[in-house]
Amino acid sequence: MQVDIPLKKVVDDSYTITIDTLPKIHFDTKVAIVTNPKIAGIHLGYLLSKISAKELFIITVPDGEEYKNQKSIDTILESLFNHRFNRKSLLIAFGGGVIGDMTGYASSIYQRGIDFIQIPTTLLSQVDASVGGKTGMNNEYGKNLVGAFHQPQAVYIDPYFLTTLPLREFGAGVAEIVKMAVTFNREFFEFLESADLHDAVVLQKVIKEAVQTKANVVSQDEKEHGLRAALNYGHTFGHVIENETGYKKFLHGEAVAIGMVMANETAVKMNLMSKIEADRIKALLEKYNLPTTYTIKSVPHFYETFFLDKKSSDSSITFIIPVGIGDVTITDKIEKKTVISVLNAFGEES
Ligand code: NAD
Ligand code: GLY
Repeated sequence: MQVDIPLKKVVDDSYTITIDTLPKIHFDTKVAIVTNPKIAGIHLGYLLSKISAKELFIITVPDGEEYKNQKSIDTILESLFNHRFNRKSLLIAFGGGVIGDMTGYASSIYQRGIDFIQIPTTLLSQVDASVGGKTGMNNEYGKNLVGAFHQPQAVYIDPYFLTTLPLREFGAGVAEIVKMAVTFNREFFEFLESADLHDAVVLQKVIKEAVQTKANVVSQDEKEHGLRAALNYGHTFGHVIENETGYKKFLHGEAVAIGMVMANETAVKMNLMSKIEADRIKALLEKYNLPTTYTIKSVPHFYETFFLDKKSSDSSITFIIPVGIGDVTITDKIEKKTVISVLNAFGEES
């Protein structure tokens, strides 16, 4: 015997990303702003001058990637239960990618899913993490291994928050901007080469272009069945670097910058990119003080660590390799010896 459950559905999860000074918004429901003490200390006053709600609560979790874990998720959920949040209540993620990912994940599981909005405060979260509905947390097995696709109701990107961002964090955001340009938009890359991102007017334009690029990708492939994986350019190598350095030495965007250089070297080896193009990308990253080199202690160990990547299977590794500047290929067909020869060039012996 069989019982069918017809569940074909058309879902409209569309939302708008506003890149401008935060407007005044009133929510006629229970709202919790999720943030950390550092961001609250600098910017909560400004946020509260803009956001009001029927009932408004602030939930803080400790600052740092090492707290993007189940314990912090439990802190958020407990607060929601204690304040009797219901399915019409709303969460606001107010912070960088760490806060955004955790708030999104908590809202995806609280009472099987409530709404949330993103108010990102780092460059990285404004151009990348707040857009596209990937949410999650880390555990002892690795980074972002637990999570859900849960789109926000809206994203409000106010570049004003970036005025207090440390330079290193700014650079980490630039890495993700370069990623979007190299993979999808040659014209944008050429603009970045001549632009000064420390100029507020230029920066706002660049944020818009990066977000538009990501929005185009997400709207074609929300759940990363294909195209969206291209946004992991630099990440396959970068994740190994983060893993080897215990997530301490490099910010995520910094590891991605080195990873992009490694992916470019692979592309050069495969005749998919000229050496001149690879050097142009490196120069752009270095303009924002991003690291572009790394010493691999053990090439075999580095290679084996690729298999922990979410895109890898037991027998193959998926690489995102640029094709010139402005195009990209997603492939699990690169011969091991090609990758090893790229890695050897970063090896201690080289
Ligand atoms: P982060 O959230 O840790 O923020 C970096 C630091 O800056 C923190 O100390 C934070 O408190 C501080 N900060 C935030 N805003 C500030 C401001 N305006 N002024 C001064 N300090 C400020 O790091 P991040 O780079 O924003 O995000 C990294 C996280 O994002 C990682 O966990 C990564 O996995 C995730 N991520 C998610 C996606 C996605 O699609 N969901 C995409 C990229 C990255
Ligand atoms: N940051 C990669 C993605 O959102 O798919």
